[in-house]
Amino acid sequence: MRFKPKKADFVFIGLVIAVIVFVTLLPGPVPGDFAHRQVTSEKACMACHISGGARPLSSRHPKRPDCLRCHRQPTV
Ligand code: HEC
Ligand code: HEC
Repeated sequence: MRFKPKKADFVFIGLVIAVIVFVTLLPGPVPGDFAHRQVTSEKACMACHISGGARPLSSRHPKRPDCLRCHRQPTV
């Protein structure tokens, strides 16, 4: 018996790929290292994440000041 994919199989595969792509595009959390636990205000983020800083944002990064709305900050 040879497997003959039906239309529903292609729809399912497409859906799986869409979910994987969506999850990889989600912003990651703020790292829980020493530098990041020191930061208490979103304004301070730009000290390092400005272009020319320790870890500049890519040019495709959204130009928004409300960092923590998208990047979760670890508690403690
Ligand atoms: C003292 C400098 C410094 C400050 C202040 C700082 N960061 Fe960072 N950040 C870094 C460096 C260096 C890295 C890359 C190394 C790492 O992962 O720790 C980084 C990595 C990140 C990453 C992960 C990037 C990736 O590759 O996934 C995010 C998200 C991030 N920072 C967000 C923030 C936010 C939001 C703030 C403000 C609350 C902030 N940072 C403040 C230096 C800083
Ligand atoms: C609208 C949501 C959103 C906001 C607000 C936001 N980011 Fe991001 N950020 C993203 C996305 C999406 C990525 C790419 C995620 C990936 O590739 O894993 C990202 C990636 C990053 C990275 C990793 C590498 C890079 O250069 O793209 C850092 C560092 C970062 N953000 C820091 C910040 C800082 C600091 C702020 C506040 C000034 C901020 N983000 C505000 C959505 C956001």
